[in-house]
Amino acid sequence: MRRTRERRVSALGSIVAFRSKLHASHRSKMTPHDRRLGFGLGLRAPHYEAILDSSPAVDWFEVLTENYLVAGGKPLHYLERIRARYPMVMHGVSLSIGSTDPLDRDYLERLKALAHRIEPQWISDHLCWTGVGGHNFHDLMPLPYDDAVIRHVVERVQRVQDFLGRRLVLENVSSYLQYRHSDMPEWEFIAAVANGADCGLLLDVNNVYVSAANHGFDPLQYIEALPHARVRQIHLAGHRNHGDYIIDSHDQPIVDGVWQLYARTLELVGDVPTMIERDDDIPPLDELVAELARARAVADCVLETRA
Ligand SMILES: [Fe+2]
Repeated sequence: MRRTRERRVSALGSIVAFRSKLHASHRSKMTPHDRRLGFGLGLRAPHYEAILDSSPAVDWFEVLTENYLVAGGKPLHYLERIRARYPMVMHGVSLSIGSTDPLDRDYLERLKALAHRIEPQWISDHLCWTGVGGHNFHDLMPLPYDDAVIRHVVERVQRVQDFLGRRLVLENVSSYLQYRHSDMPEWEFIAAVANGADCGLLLDVNNVYVSAANHGFDPLQYIEALPHARVRQIHLAGHRNHGDYIIDSHDQPIVDGVWQLYARTLELVGDVPTMIERDDDIPPLDELVAELARARAVADCVLETRA
């Protein structure tokens, strides 16, 4: 009996040691090097050939994880050729970290295999739920903001991080509804999840702008309240303003209000890698590279003043 107990204690010791090693490795992934990654674009199929032909002035590409989870095929062929020239980060839409469904082991296995293949700087997904009861709604839905949901999400993020052996980066989503039983603002919820799970944040400045307009809060108060040291990446994008509500459409150039909020964000978070998302009405690559040059110019101006 005693020997069994000793074995259990010893096994427990190994697990604790393994976890400490893992958490040390999570920490080692958060390096100043990541902060200098620079300015990226979302990798989109219409640009594959142009990227290979012209090697545009883009520091890195963000790849939509789900487009590359099948073995072989054209997308993976291009992905590997472009990866040979550019750093990449992986951005997913199917983790459904807030759902009450069990974590999808098969999805996580494939995610990990892709990460092994392309060695991304980090892996991100959204702080949301995308389905329940085995159904994927293919939409990024907001969560209720209360302590029970914080505990639920923190525990799931920790399990994903342990499985991947790296820290996860979670993005704030844009939203069009709120839950009656939320008892804290979104920014408090995000901060509590990030601090509790010890994960990174992908701050989508356009999403803050869109949700602030839709729900009537101050976007700056939101960004000021986040744990700035955890912000690993920034998203910028365009939207459609319908007057009394805004849709996060990713089919337009970035508007002035979002550029202004981006500048204020950089004053708070410092030099954080930034990328532009464009998912519909995708223009020629040159147009997005020019828009990215504007992001560089804004950052240069703000960070020089900040220094
Ligand atoms: Fe985004």
